[in-house]
Amino acid sequence: MKKASMVLDRAYAIGEIDPRIYGSFIEHLGRAVYGGIYEPGHPTADKNGFRRDVIDLVKKLNIPVTRYPGGNFVSGFDWEDSIGPRDQRRHRLDLAWFTTETNEVGLHEFMDWCREAGTAPMYAVNLGTRGPDAARNIVEYCNHPGGSYYSDLRIKNGAKEPFGIKLWCLGNEMDGPWQIGGKTALEYGRVANEAAKVMKWVDPSIELVACGSSSIEMPTFGDWELTILNECYENVDYVSLHRYYGNPTNDTRGFLARSMDLDDFIKTVVSICDAVGGKKHSKKKLGLSFDEWNVWYHSKEQDKEAWKQGKWNRALPLLEDIYNFEDALLVGSMLITFLRNADRVKIACMAQLVNVIAPIMTRNGGGAWAQTIYWPLLHASQYGRGTALRAVVDTPVYDCKDYEAVPELDATATLGEDGSVTIFAVNRSLEEGMELTVDLRDFSGLSTVSHEVLVHEDVKAINTEENPNNVSPRAIPGGKLEGGRLVIEIPRLSWNVIRVTK
Ligand code: AHR
Repeated sequence: MKKASMVLDRAYAIGEIDPRIYGSFIEHLGRAVYGGIYEPGHPTADKNGFRRDVIDLVKKLNIPVTRYPGGNFVSGFDWEDSIGPRDQRRHRLDLAWFTTETNEVGLHEFMDWCREAGTAPMYAVNLGTRGPDAARNIVEYCNHPGGSYYSDLRIKNGAKEPFGIKLWCLGNEMDGPWQIGGKTALEYGRVANEAAKVMKWVDPSIELVACGSSSIEMPTFGDWELTILNECYENVDYVSLHRYYGNPTNDTRGFLARSMDLDDFIKTVVSICDAVGGKKHSKKKLGLSFDEWNVWYHSKEQDKEAWKQGKWNRALPLLEDIYNFEDALLVGSMLITFLRNADRVKIACMAQLVNVIAPIMTRNGGGAWAQTIYWPLLHASQYGRGTALRAVVDTPVYDCKDYEAVPELDATATLGEDGSVTIFAVNRSLEEGMELTVDLRDFSGLSTVSHEVLVHEDVKAINTEENPNNVSPRAIPGGKLEGGRLVIEIPRLSWNVIRVTK
């Protein structure tokens, strides 16, 4: 069996973990809303038409923020269509996904759902076809107490108290030619700055996320960030990053190494932010908002079939990736990477939450179940709170097509408010288990070890409605803790949560 070691010390702290790194995302896309969170007539639907089986699964994830209503969808969306009496709401063509949006679920319904699901909204404004005017009006509608046109309209529509939405995205992927109303960096930087300014004039307590590049692979990546931040640095709080990975060539070792690319991406964007801040002699440091991240590739062919049904349908089954066991391992490593960069990554929204590239799947009229990727998100959200520790890890490494010296053991640790230590670890080795020795000398008084593991002999194993627990975590014996030293076995190809408590 291979060996690895880890040193943990409370003096090696990266910083406080912002719980919003366990956020998620719901877009008006496919069956995310209609058939996902909302299905009146479903046996579990409540009086508002929300599926309680879905809410139960969402609540277990304990998601602090949920981004809404898009995504590409938002760049053609008129928010005013989504308020007022439902039977009078306009049906509109959605040019992002070529479907028809009925607006049956709108702003007030989403706020109700957030309350039920125990999450807070992260609302994206349309900077594609709209601009600062619509953006400041929706902030007034949502957050101003009353006595103005839009705040009184909210009250008339049934919400006496302001929604108090604290976190806002300034558009979505504005660098993409696929984006409705896409922009050059300078065009976007200017409009983002003007929108940010007036939104904060309406409510100075809000926080704003500017659109970084839609992907590190965009030819404009880097220049885009420099140009837009040059325009809006002082009026925004975060810059967005989007990252999706796939394994189309069926190279598990290379696929599991992709979180190294994520780490490089984070470091590069941090450098750009700080270069702009430095140039501006600013005292402010921008945070990073990974407002879309996940594995996404399984559904690409299937979507081509769905489009054949023609345009302007409702709730087509789009982007319905069925996740396998190796996807859950990479998702685990992506979460570990966010924790390792907790000093700068303040928000991360797994894209998305239900049905659309999602940890939760549903069948219309049928069941709801957890996909494989649900588990690492649940574990990290449950135990990865408090302080991120800078774990010093010594591990065997391997080379693959795109990366050299990939750590076989990808691991980090957190210190909870109750003094407990949690180690998150992915063993990337296809062949062997690993004996991990953890030096916990600085953490006296810890005596109990528990070990939960997500493991399966088949990397392509999936969960289905009929077999929802095929890939699900189980507890295994928790190793040996003696004199501040923990020795524990990490199975080959596995996601691990090791808790050392009082
Ligand atoms: O999450 C799916 C889509 O991916 C989003 O609408 C868009 O922002 C990104 O390209």
